[in-house]
Amino acid sequence: MSGSSTKNGGAPTVYLGHIVDPMDEDTYRDIPEGALVVSSEGQIEVVGKWSDLSAQYSSGKLVDCGRKLIMPGMIDMHIHLPQVSQIGKSGDTLLGWLEKYIFPAEARFSDLSHAEKIATWFFDELARNGTTLAVVFSTIHKEATDAAFSIAADKGMRAIMGKVMMDRNAPASLLENSKNSLAESEQLANKWHGFDNGRLLYAFTPRFAITSTDELLHDCGKLWQSSPGTYLHTHLSESLEEVKKVASLFPSSRSYLDVYDQSGLVGARSVFAHSIHLDDQDLRVMHQKHCVLAHCPSSNFFLKSGIFPLDRVKAAGVEFGLGSDVAAGPQMSLFGVMKDANFIQPQIWISPRELFYRATRGGAKALKLEDRLGSLEAGKEADFIVVDPTLKNACPMDILEHETDDILSALVFLGDDRMIDSTYIRGRPVFKRTREKEAAGIS
Ligand code: GUN
Ligand code: ZN
Repeated sequence: MSGSSTKNGGAPTVYLGHIVDPMDEDTYRDIPEGALVVSSEGQIEVVGKWSDLSAQYSSGKLVDCGRKLIMPGMIDMHIHLPQVSQIGKSGDTLLGWLEKYIFPAEARFSDLSHAEKIATWFFDELARNGTTLAVVFSTIHKEATDAAFSIAADKGMRAIMGKVMMDRNAPASLLENSKNSLAESEQLANKWHGFDNGRLLYAFTPRFAITSTDELLHDCGKLWQSSPGTYLHTHLSESLEEVKKVASLFPSSRSYLDVYDQSGLVGARSVFAHSIHLDDQDLRVMHQKHCVLAHCPSSNFFLKSGIFPLDRVKAAGVEFGLGSDVAAGPQMSLFGVMKDANFIQPQIWISPRELFYRATRGGAKALKLEDRLGSLEAGKEADFIVVDPTLKNACPMDILEHETDDILSALVFLGDDRMIDSTYIRGRPVFKRTREKEAAGIS
C-alpha cells in the first residue's frame, strides 16, 4: 500500500472520525471528516481530512469511528493508586481524612495479592476514563509498587509513578526507615524508569513535608538530582491546617515551598500537587526553577482545602496541569475535573478551550513530554480517545455539527466516563466500550 511508510513495513491503521486537537490554550484544529493515520509502531504518521488522504490510504486498515470525536488522551497530573477503593468517603478535612480512611487503606498494601487486585482495578479505571498518562502515588510498599508497574506494563498503560516515602507522623505500619525508603526507591527507579521507550517513568515520591524528616527530604533531593529524567512528585500547601503544621515542624524555613527548596527538591521535573496557599515569593521561586503544579479542583472542593490561585499562578508564568487526586477527588474523569476547575473559581471564567488544553497538551508540556504527547500531530505517540458526547442524554444529538467551542463546552460541562467510547495508548486499544454494557446502563 502506498501509504505504508512505517519503519518495519507494517501497514498503518487509519481512524476516521471528527478530530478536535489543541494547538495551544486557544487554538484548535477541528476536522469534521478527519483521518488519524497511526503506524504499526504506534506513532502518528499524518492527520488531515479524509478526502485529502483517502487516495493514499484507502487500501489500508480502516477503523471508522462513525459520528464520534477523536481527541488526544487526557493526562492526570496527580492521582493515588491505593485510594481508588476509598472514593466518596467524606466528612473531614485533609489531616483527619488521611487518618480515618487513607492510611488504613494504604496499610493493606503490605498484602501483595490485595495490592495487585487494586492496581488492576486502578489501571482499568484510568483507561475507561480516557486517561492515557497519569502521575501516580503508590504506597510505601516496594513489592506492591513493583507489582503496580508490572500491571501497567502488561496492560500497555502509561504512567509516571513512585513508591511513597514516609518516616514520621503516620501509623507505625506505614513508617519506614529513611535509608531503606531511599534504597528501595532507587531500586524501583533503576528497574522501571524509561521502561518500553519511556512508557513508564519514575517519580521520587515523598508524601508531604509532615510525614518526612529533614534527613529524608535532603537525601531524596540528592537521589533525585543524581537520577536524570526522573520526576519529584509531592503535595504542597493544600490546606491551612497542613501549612501551619509544616511551619511548626520546619521553623527555619521561610514557607512550605522553602522546605522543599532547601532540600533540593524544586526543579524542572518537580510536580507539586495542590499548591493553593502560596505567597508571591513562592511563585517567583517556582518560575525561576521551572517546577510545575497539578491543580486538583475536585479534591479541593471535596476536602474544602481552598481555591487554587489561578490568576497569580498564570501571572507568575508557572506551568500547571490538572489532577483528579483520587480519592480526595471523588472522580477519575478529567471531564469532571475540568468542570470543577471552572466552577471553583468565584471570579474567573476559564474557557472550555483552555480547560481541555490543560487536561491534554498543557499537562504534557508541564511534564516536559510535549514533543511526544498531548496532541494528535505527526511524529507524536498515538495516545488518543474516541468520545461520543451523545452518550449523555442532555447533549444535543447534532453536537458534532456545532462550533468547536460548543463541542468542547459539552465535554466540559456534561462529560464524564460514559462519554468515552475507546482509549488508545501508542495506537493500542486499552479500553473499548461494549454495546452490551451500554444497553445495560453499566459503564
Ligand atoms: N497530603 C498528603 N497525603 C495526601 C493524600 O493522600 N491526599 C491528599 N489530597 N493530600 C495529601
Ligand atoms: Zn494527593
